[in-house]
Amino acid sequence: MKPKANRQKKILVIHGPNLNLLGSREPDIYGRVTLQDINRQLKKIAARAKITLTIKQSNHEGEIVDLIGDARNRYAAILINPAAYTHTSVAIRDAIAACGLMTIEVHISNIYTREDFRQTSLISPVAKATIAGFGPQSYTLGLEALIDLINA
Ligand code: DQA
Repeated sequence: MKPKANRQKKILVIHGPNLNLLGSREPDIYGRVTLQDINRQLKKIAARAKITLTIKQSNHEGEIVDLIGDARNRYAAILINPAAYTHTSVAIRDAIAACGLMTIEVHISNIYTREDFRQTSLISPVAKATIAGFGPQSYTLGLEALIDLINA
């Protein structure tokens, strides 16, 4: 187990399924900004705050469960866009609850104004907060809030 001072400065960012396609995927909903653009912004914010970011994208539920499980004792907090798994994955929800790390859930679109099946998040009840509908800025707002919280 890493000493708390080390963990304190690390945040794990997880992008769920199909977010690797941002930029070309349904631009009317998700815009033209790519995942690389978002990651660049996140890294800038982290560098300014002297926080180390690890950024992962996965299309596989089990892989995301493993990432969260392995994050315990290694990171101070998690920023996650669970994408479609938001609405289906008890396994990801349980992993977040089990790891006990402060987690902020983000969505590019406002899931509460979209199809009925998107209006339920299985993740929100185990997240510290949910930020949705600000476009790519949902990520930057989420990271800034998380940094403030772990520095508090
Ligand atoms: C999303 C919203 C989800 O409903 C969808 O499945 C995604 C992206 C968002 O960021 O707006 O893939 O999480």
